[in-house]
Amino acid sequence: MAKQPSDTRFAVPATLKTHGPARIIAMCNQKGGVGKTTTTINMAAALAEYGRKVLLVDFDPQGALSAGLGIIASDVPTIYDLMINKDLPTRDAIITTRFEGLDLLPANIDLSAAELRLVSEMGREKILKGILKQVSDDYDLILVDCQPSLGLLTVNALTAAHGVIIPLNCEFFALRGVALLVETIDKVREHLNEAIQLDGILATMYDPRTLHSREVLERLHEVFGEKVFRSVIGRTVKFPDATVAGEPITTFAPTSDAAESYRTVARELVARGNCA
Ligand SMILES: Nc1ncnc2c1ncn2[C@@H]1O[C@H](COP(=O)(O)OP(=O)(O)OP(=O)(O)O)[C@@H](O)[C@H]1O
Ligand SMILES: [Mg+2]
Repeated sequence: MAKQPSDTRFAVPATLKTHGPARIIAMCNQKGGVGKTTTTINMAAALAEYGRKVLLVDFDPQGALSAGLGIIASDVPTIYDLMINKDLPTRDAIITTRFEGLDLLPANIDLSAAELRLVSEMGREKILKGILKQVSDDYDLILVDCQPSLGLLTVNALTAAHGVIIPLNCEFFALRGVALLVETIDKVREHLNEAIQLDGILATMYDPRTLHSREVLERLHEVFGEKVFRSVIGRTVKFPDATVAGEPITTFAPTSDAAESYRTVARELVARGNCA
């Protein structure tokens, strides 16, 4: 049983007796370095602590999500292999990580060839959807860590997803490009996936000591209202340190405010009905 959190705004999620089918969430922002990968790993790890079964999908050729879990995907089947070889079962590429409740579909630099290779393929936007369908019943949540672009890979993630989370760093230019991202989500809804929802916008790298950070957060609330998570992720060097160690913040520094902040977002996600 999870211990009572210090932030009591969102209840500790009820224990699940059975698992699946998964809700699929794409972690998306075409701006680089806003905290997509950090949020994917740590939100998943927090939900796993609450007994959820989570599949993480590394959908960035940089392989940062895989590396962040201490996994270098060489000489193993990756998400790229699943995309180009329809006969390869999804389960053959899933890696069970050393963290309970967390599985991974890894990626490496091979994935950078996917967009070109698939450009003339029929149904090219729906390939990831087909891959995830095979294993959806095994998980409560599938989180897809997108690369910083709005190309074919990201469109695949949006087509497969029930929801999108947009991490935004609390910096002056954070809102730039979000309109284009929202437009892309609307287009995907119109043509490829009518059920897709914007699950929320998560403010990251927040520094309460600076007026600047506080102003960006205020502006986010003005523009996006209820869509903004009430939980906020602070700026701390513990996140890059955890990445170097190849583990989630929840095991690297389990009692830190940083770990607690992702547990709070995880509880908020469940409280909002965006995860079982
Ligand atoms: N809350 C935070 N406080 C301080 N540093 C952070 C925080 N969140 C992430 N970082 C660091 O910022 C860098 C970028 O974060 P991350 O890789 O999660 O962003 P990203 O959006 O996935 O980037 P990319 O677009 O390149 O995939 C990393 O070095 C990460 O450790
Ligand atoms: Mg990333």
